[in-house]
Amino acid sequence: MPGAFPSKESTPTPLPDYEAGIARLKREMNAVILAHYYQDSEIQDLADFVGDSLQLSQQAAKTDADVIVFCGVLFMAETAKILNPGKLVLLPDMKAGCSLADGCPAPLFRAFRERYPDHIVISYINCSAEIKALSDIICTSSNAEKIVRQIPADKPILFAPDRHLGAYIQKKTGRQMRLWQGSCLVHETFTERSIIELRQKYPRAMVLAHPECSEAVLRHADYIGSTAGILHFAEQNAATEFIVATEAGILHQMQKACPAKTFIAAPGEGGCACNLCPHMRLNTLEKLYHDMKTRQPAIELDEPLRQAALQPIQRMLAMS
Ligand code: 13P
Ligand code: SF4
Repeated sequence: MPGAFPSKESTPTPLPDYEAGIARLKREMNAVILAHYYQDSEIQDLADFVGDSLQLSQQAAKTDADVIVFCGVLFMAETAKILNPGKLVLLPDMKAGCSLADGCPAPLFRAFRERYPDHIVISYINCSAEIKALSDIICTSSNAEKIVRQIPADKPILFAPDRHLGAYIQKKTGRQMRLWQGSCLVHETFTERSIIELRQKYPRAMVLAHPECSEAVLRHADYIGSTAGILHFAEQNAATEFIVATEAGILHQMQKACPAKTFIAAPGEGGCACNLCPHMRLNTLEKLYHDMKTRQPAIELDEPLRQAALQPIQRMLAMS
């Protein structure tokens, strides 16, 4: 009897509606969803707030939600937990790390800073809670220059872990800084050659670059700034074509904000998809839904470590 027993093929399992489930859980838990610009666009679209590292830590510092769901990487969710010890802080995938944080292990960093006891230690927020606890002040790509300019001229500075951001801030401020030699695996893949080739192909385009790029790439940039800075520049500037040298997730908000403008993502060397951060992209809608449903995985921090890491973050927020 054809049709009496529908085959599996004729009744495909419908895809779970993760967006609806996430919205329901968000209401039930009184949660806020914070997302970085490098998240998949479908995650950005359901977040309560999308921003750069500084904006996200400012949001985390002032939220009155009971639960913070952090769609970003581990150091960002840790920062939210350091600021909110009493709140549940969720991260959809605990393996979402960062090459800058991973390249700066606490024992080596402690030894490094002990060699320069008279230096003030400014650490980029892309580092572990342990490194934050060993630092005097935290900074992000959007406030690093402002913070360095507030340090007395006679005070030597040790800057970690991003050597490219450090070198860029040195150049901008004229301050000599001792740099930890870390770098971001995504921004390292942009090369001077690929930017020059894109410039030849799109002669009217402006080049916007993140300061985690190498000096050779930054040399060709018309604007250098954080992800939020890059977005803001593209919105304000009269140009209609932009080459964007940072993680390609930012293009989603750029295109939303300026639908009539053209944005060209700078490619990784050899045309690979290395302009996508493999850590950021571990977060998916499915993992986000399950994280909220089971309240796991969640950030846990030892209280002495949290307290030690809090002060340098609070200094940053006060100096921003
Ligand atoms: P911003 O969010 O400060 O632009 O930094 C980018 C980044 O690499 C975050 O990991
Ligand atoms: Fe870290 Fe680079 Fe990924 Fe940002 S883009 S999280 S700096 S690895």
